[in-house]
Amino acid sequence: MAQPISHRPTQLLHIQQQDAIKIAASILQSGGLLAFPTETVYGLGADATNPQAVADLYAAKGRPAFNPLISHFPHAEDAIQNGIFNDAARKLAAAFWPGPLTLVVPFAGGAICDLARAGLDTVALRVPDHPVAQALLAACGCPVVAPSANRSGHVSPTSAAHVMEDLSGRIDGILDSGPTEVGVESTIIDATGPIPYLLRPGGITREAIESVLGFAITAAAVDDSTRPASPGRLASHYAPRAHVRLDASGVEAGEALLTFAGATPPGAEQAATIFDLSPEGDLTQAAARLYDALRTLDASGARAIAVVPLPRTGLGEAIADRLGRAAAPRPQEDLMINT
Ligand code: TXA
Ligand code: MG
Repeated sequence: MAQPISHRPTQLLHIQQQDAIKIAASILQSGGLLAFPTETVYGLGADATNPQAVADLYAAKGRPAFNPLISHFPHAEDAIQNGIFNDAARKLAAAFWPGPLTLVVPFAGGAICDLARAGLDTVALRVPDHPVAQALLAACGCPVVAPSANRSGHVSPTSAAHVMEDLSGRIDGILDSGPTEVGVESTIIDATGPIPYLLRPGGITREAIESVLGFAITAAAVDDSTRPASPGRLASHYAPRAHVRLDASGVEAGEALLTFAGATPPGAEQAATIFDLSPEGDLTQAAARLYDALRTLDASGARAIAVVPLPRTGLGEAIADRLGRAAAPRPQEDLMINT
């Protein structure tokens, strides 16, 4: 698979196709790049033990190599062997794996290569709760790094078509099993020290994590320095082309509208396009549809996307986090440091 990243024919594999998992696994085993579904978003997979494959992955995404990757495993027992787990980490793994939780723990040493960890002495581990991801990971027999399968700085993909838009011709294959369910990425908890904290809100709510731990957790502040605690927590991220205007109390000329629970702010009638994340006001549905909404509204050609205020409880925290990043100013140099 030593093709340059800009000239890779991308094989589209549908899960119902005969031997789809076997073919997909063989792409990863031979050092190729394969996008596959997880319960959160589509990931771009590479063999975590193969530095050349991981280097190709950074190049295909246009992702800076100082931003470490999450290693994925089919079972919790496999993941746990790669890190040093304290009590809190063990509790969280027991409660939420498989599921949309990533744990950052001290690296125990082993096969995950330095480049996958961006040279850190910690490692991010995840066990996805998706039958196709699990079958693929089991068939590979190696840890698989998988960032979201989008070009660095773009909106994350929740369907194979989204992956195609960003990475066609740059990766070896896409395993398609339809849209993903959760729609926002995994929650990332730093459990490297005695007190765990939230690096990224995501598919498991803060409330669920706190109820397992028995205490409140704090979130790391959004950090724009070049070496933040979680390097992917850079402010400008998940960005559509159009400007994103948060907490809009009305719609201005030339804007598209991202709304929730049927809200129609003044000026809605002049919106270029309207996308309601969940007409019934359900945050789970809103999370699942968020990235598709951003892509759809962006494609309308509107100059800006006005976003109504959204609830911030439960999955609302992850939604607010992603919208905040989509709305962050994007100075030229920031384009270098998105994931
Ligand atoms: O839901 C998900 O987590 C998806 C699916 C595909 O599994 N993956 C994903 O990966 O969102 P990515 O690369 O887009 O985001 C991973 C985040 C980055 O912000 C990165 O900086 C952080 O995890 N990260 C990885 N290793 C870390 C480490 N050792 N310490 C702190 N943060 C780390
Ligand atoms: Mg990402």
